[in-house]
Amino acid sequence: MSINILGIESSCDDTSAAVICDGCLKSNVIASQKVHEAYGGVVPELASRAHQQNIVPVVSEALRQAGIDKSELSAIAFTRGPGLLGSLLVGTSFAKGMSIGLDIPLIDVNHLHAHVLSHFVRKSPGDNVPDFPFLCLLISGGNSQIVIARSPKEMEIVGKTIDDAAGEAFDKCAKVMGLPYPGGPHIDRLAAEGDPTAFRFSKPHIPGLDYSFSGLKTSFLYTLRDNLSKDPDFVEKNKTGLAASLQATIIDILLDKLAKALERYPVEHVAIGGGVSANSGVRAAVAEFCNKKGVKAWIPERAFTTDNAAMVAAAGYFKYLDKEFCDLSLPPFSRVSM
Ligand code: KG4
Repeated sequence: MSINILGIESSCDDTSAAVICDGCLKSNVIASQKVHEAYGGVVPELASRAHQQNIVPVVSEALRQAGIDKSELSAIAFTRGPGLLGSLLVGTSFAKGMSIGLDIPLIDVNHLHAHVLSHFVRKSPGDNVPDFPFLCLLISGGNSQIVIARSPKEMEIVGKTIDDAAGEAFDKCAKVMGLPYPGGPHIDRLAAEGDPTAFRFSKPHIPGLDYSFSGLKTSFLYTLRDNLSKDPDFVEKNKTGLAASLQATIIDILLDKLAKALERYPVEHVAIGGGVSANSGVRAAVAEFCNKKGVKAWIPERAFTTDNAAMVAAAGYFKYLDKEFCDLSLPPFSRVSM
């Protein structure tokens, strides 16, 4: 009998559902919430309301695209956390209701594990996947971590940000440049046309494998403030150079610690994941870095970088094979380590 897993993701501002049948992805539907653009960031209350509106059509569409009926599902995997509690409650409650209604097991998935396991979303059985153990640079709007994945269940954070995440650095610097939210993709686009050496911004001096991005944000802000006092059109005239220099600095910071992590944990495979791993500069730099170090780089398809349920279903599939189901009383959580 086939194993059909429905994955549900609602940790932040994307409502997503995906179906994995016998380990292969059949559908991955994502409804992004445009409502936050006007506020320059995710508004938790609005996110929960939008999830409520989206969840039924998104799940129905995922089942339709997969060509299976809900009665054929083997289990439901859902993101339990970390994330925004109100958003998580929508996906969690929906998954619980569906599991009771269909009398099938429920599988809780850690959102960060799912990002790491996004590399195991196979489209066909022969697709290659990373070898354990591997290092994963997990970079998103809420996290910047280096994780060593020893197995689908055994993951350890070996370095993490002590303040802002890389995505926040992209978004907040973009915001002071007057770019729309989320700013990361706009910086990416502008950086492609700019000189990465046009400006110098400060880099952190943090020992070990931890990251810090707050100093860079301040340095960027001061550069704008000082130059705008002399020329009100400074940002407009220099937007590509500013974007390219900011992106290059973020990449330097990320790769510096990744190199140290690889020295400490000499694995043969290195992966990236999370929203910031969609960045063209990051993708090219990590591929080049891995090439130089003689390790295999795993760069996810862009559709699996930002929040998506395919990775949740993939993580759920591993747990299903181990019969690791969860209790209906399990609440979502907003913060957690791995
Ligand atoms: O993983 P994700 O979808 O969810 C959160 O953690 O919220 O990541 C979102 C982050 C945002 O900060 C966004 O600006 C960033 O990923 N991002 C990018 C790019 N695409 C998304 N940052 C830089 N370049 C991109 N192309």
